[in-house]
Amino acid sequence: MNCKQKRLRISPWFRLALLLSLAGCSGSAEAPGDSREAASGVSHKSFADAVHAVMMADRTVYATHVVTRLKKQEAPVSPSEYWEDEEHTIPLPAQMFRMGATLVSEDSTAGFSYALKSKWPLNEQNKPKSDVEVEALDFLVDHPGENFYGKEELGGTEYFIAAYADRAVAEACWSCHNEHSNRLDTYPEFKKDDVMGGVIVRIPMQ
Ligand code: HEC
Repeated sequence: MNCKQKRLRISPWFRLALLLSLAGCSGSAEAPGDSREAASGVSHKSFADAVHAVMMADRTVYATHVVTRLKKQEAPVSPSEYWEDEEHTIPLPAQMFRMGATLVSEDSTAGFSYALKSKWPLNEQNKPKSDVEVEALDFLVDHPGENFYGKEELGGTEYFIAAYADRAVAEACWSCHNEHSNRLDTYPEFKKDDVMGGVIVRIPMQ
């Protein structure tokens, strides 16, 4: 999918995050010919790839060094979907992710928004909300190993959209989802490496 590359105005904080992530990421980029990061600007695709790298790094660190570590130590604190109501609990990685996404969506200087979505959501809030989001999630299932890049117009504004597969990388992923009480009759039986959903990054194109 070819998208016109334009320059973005990004806040200094995100420029720093971007540089850090680009330094450590040799490019999960799928679209060809897009290694054109210039000192003065960055393409929408590179920006989306970079913020996605930061998000996934944070999610992995939380899952590995907080959630799994607590479990290994048999700590008196455990992750729970109902952490707000239960004592001695902390949020699940997906909930941490969604709370971060909400804060970014409230930050008018961020210049982008993101969400973890699925065609089979445990939480209704995480279902695709536009035709392009549905197309993106289908694409991720049909094209293993590829990212989705496209454009869409919402309320008179044109957006660049990037979507990245979210896979069943650990047994905890599919066992928790497959046994969850929110699953509908149409819910798939997830197994290792299945695409369970996708991270969608949306950037307004001025
Ligand atoms: C202990 C249970 C549990 C585990 C383990 C778990 N999830 Fe989830 N996951 C949830 C819940 C509950 C939600 C809904 C969170 C919310 O309120 O947004 C969710 C949300 C998601 C979503 C967004 C769509 C939806 O279902 O609402 C995706 C995609 C997802 N998880 C993938 C994964 C992957 C991949 C892993 C493993 C790396 C994983 N999950 C591990 C319970 C779990």
